[in-house]
Amino acid sequence: MIYADNAATTCLSPTALAAMMPYLTQDYGNPSSLYAFAGRAKEALERARGEVAAYLNAPAEEVFFTSGGTESDNWALRGVAEALGKRGRHILLSAVEHHAVLHTGQWLQKQGFQVELLPVDDQGVVRPETLAAALRPDTILVSVMLANNEIGTIQPVAELAAIAHRGGALFRT
Ligand SMILES: Cc1ncc(COP(=O)(O)O)c(C=O)c1O
Repeated sequence: MIYADNAATTCLSPTALAAMMPYLTQDYGNPSSLYAFAGRAKEALERARGEVAAYLNAPAEEVFFTSGGTESDNWALRGVAEALGKRGRHILLSAVEHHAVLHTGQWLQKQGFQVELLPVDDQGVVRPETLAAALRPDTILVSVMLANNEIGTIQPVAELAAIAHRGGALFRT
């Protein structure tokens, strides 16, 4: 079988499975508890956090693990809205975001935010000039996915992030 929906879900890599096996079968203690068994899980968790942080060139305390995509989307979008809602109420989402993002945008709209969708070109790409024209002084957040889960387009996120940052908005991908 050729599975053509690998952008939505994919087979766990054998390397990742092997790395996780000890924590699925032996050191599976609650990392937030105090006993020694839990301490081993905590150590592994903090080691993983450090490795991800080094890979992203970010401080370890800025790396959070969540249960999945929808939770992360909600956390990021609602978190920014709550933190910066006094500074601005305008949020830009690409029109091709995952529904977990679009539905969170609809929820934010009900809370009084102005949520605008950035259109894509005939290749499914958010053009940098489209973002530049849509940014406003009260834009607090721009959200554009890196790779589209349905048509596979790769967005120019580095360029888009630079434009958002120049305009004083946070960029989320
Ligand atoms: C941006 C985004 N949000 C949410 C999801 C849904 O993920 P989950 O089932 O982990 O909530 C996906 C799945 O591909 C996604 O790409």
